[in-house]
Amino acid sequence: MSAQQSKILAIIGQGYVGLPLAMAAVDADWTVIGIDNFVAKVEQINGGSSPVEDISDTKLKAAISRGAYKATTDFSEVAQASVVTICVPTPLDDKREPDLTLLRNAAMAIAPYVSNETLVISESTSYPGTLRDIIIPIINQNKPKDSKNIYFASAPERVNPGDAIWNQKNTPRLIGAIDQESQKRALAFYGSICDAAISVSTPEIAEAAKLLENTFRLVNIALINEFTQLCSTSGINVHEVIDAASSKPYGFMPFRPGVGVGGHCIPVDPLYLTWWARQNGSKAAFVESADSINHAMPKYVADRALSMVDASIQNPKVLILGVAYKPGVGDVRETPVSELRAHLKAQGAEVAWHDPLVSVWEGTKSVSLDWECDVAIIATNQPGMKVTELISKGIQILDCTNSLNGQKGVSSL
Ligand SMILES: NC(=O)c1ccc[n+]([C@@H]2O[C@H](COP(=O)([O-])OP(=O)(O)OC[C@H]3O[C@@H](n4cnc5c(N)ncnc54)[C@H](O)[C@@H]3O)[C@@H](O)[C@H]2O)c1
Repeated sequence: MSAQQSKILAIIGQGYVGLPLAMAAVDADWTVIGIDNFVAKVEQINGGSSPVEDISDTKLKAAISRGAYKATTDFSEVAQASVVTICVPTPLDDKREPDLTLLRNAAMAIAPYVSNETLVISESTSYPGTLRDIIIPIINQNKPKDSKNIYFASAPERVNPGDAIWNQKNTPRLIGAIDQESQKRALAFYGSICDAAISVSTPEIAEAAKLLENTFRLVNIALINEFTQLCSTSGINVHEVIDAASSKPYGFMPFRPGVGVGGHCIPVDPLYLTWWARQNGSKAAFVESADSINHAMPKYVADRALSMVDASIQNPKVLILGVAYKPGVGDVRETPVSELRAHLKAQGAEVAWHDPLVSVWEGTKSVSLDWECDVAIIATNQPGMKVTELISKGIQILDCTNSLNGQKGVSSL
């Protein structure tokens, strides 16, 4: 069997997107080569220890031991694959503009090994035009001279780490390819691992849809964060308002306030949209405003927490509970808790943190819940946090997660 007829999949990037995709493909009888340029991660994975919470060590070890999966740093293994998916990070640079360096590097690294009939798919989130204007030219310029008929599609990943219901299999996948044959092949590939593969007319539609999905979340979270502050000044419980509004059976979707937005997606992807708008001579004013509102939340939370402390205490001790950007994961990328801690410290507070899923963060270690404090802030409601211990000790708590509603000594955002 030639490489191009093989059911061998190469996935570039073995993180929160690439590793779950690998396991879903193994479940669908693909043999998967997981390529990552981070040597320690490749060794960890091949040692049977999963770096991603949603993939158990047991599942990973089973896939490795039956020869259905391996991780490697060797890009030449792409030559065996009929399908190559790119799942590398697409972060922001120092100016908070799209940084496609890793995506370009990945395209450059696979290019010499794509062969006739290979299907190359980008799953990384980026602005419309990334597949057509960046990835395809890099691969076409650097592919082997004799490789013909390379197929290209964009299929932005929608994984939601920590979600017990929605996964690679049951989350519908958007697919936009550059031509009919690429579309047919990409639909067949995702049809083999997902329950629903949805065709859109171009890669740009798929890329733009991904930005719309995540920007939708950003602006709705900003709206509720702003609304929370308005309610708070009038002593109105915003959660009761959200619950009340949620009784409307159509045209309303509940979002909850919090310390801000974090992770690799919601704070980042909308800035791909604002940048793309500027490149096209437009301004995404509404999205920029939402971004500013969310960025102001850590200071608002810091001020609220410190206002709960007796004014005679010069350097209040503040314990932050949960530093990961969302419950159920140890992922601290872009966590708004960084800014929260900075604002607390800037106002003279001594700050410690506790998170059962994070042991070291920004050079400091998680403390136990026994750490004596004047006020505690629940920033992320991590499973396994024994917050009731603090309540029974009578410690004042500012709950940004609405998980301790109505308990004595607990204020909600
Ligand atoms: N994490 C999410 O919830 C999520 C959801 C949907 C979409 N996405 C998008 O998926 C993409 C990947 O995100 P992630 O969360 O999986 O990132 P991640 O950091 O968890 O994993 C990416 C992996 O790629 C590796 N890598 C970086 N450059 C590489 C290269 N040139 N060659 C090979 N490996 C390389 C890194 O070492 C890392 O292990 C991003 O575009 C992100 O926006 C992420």
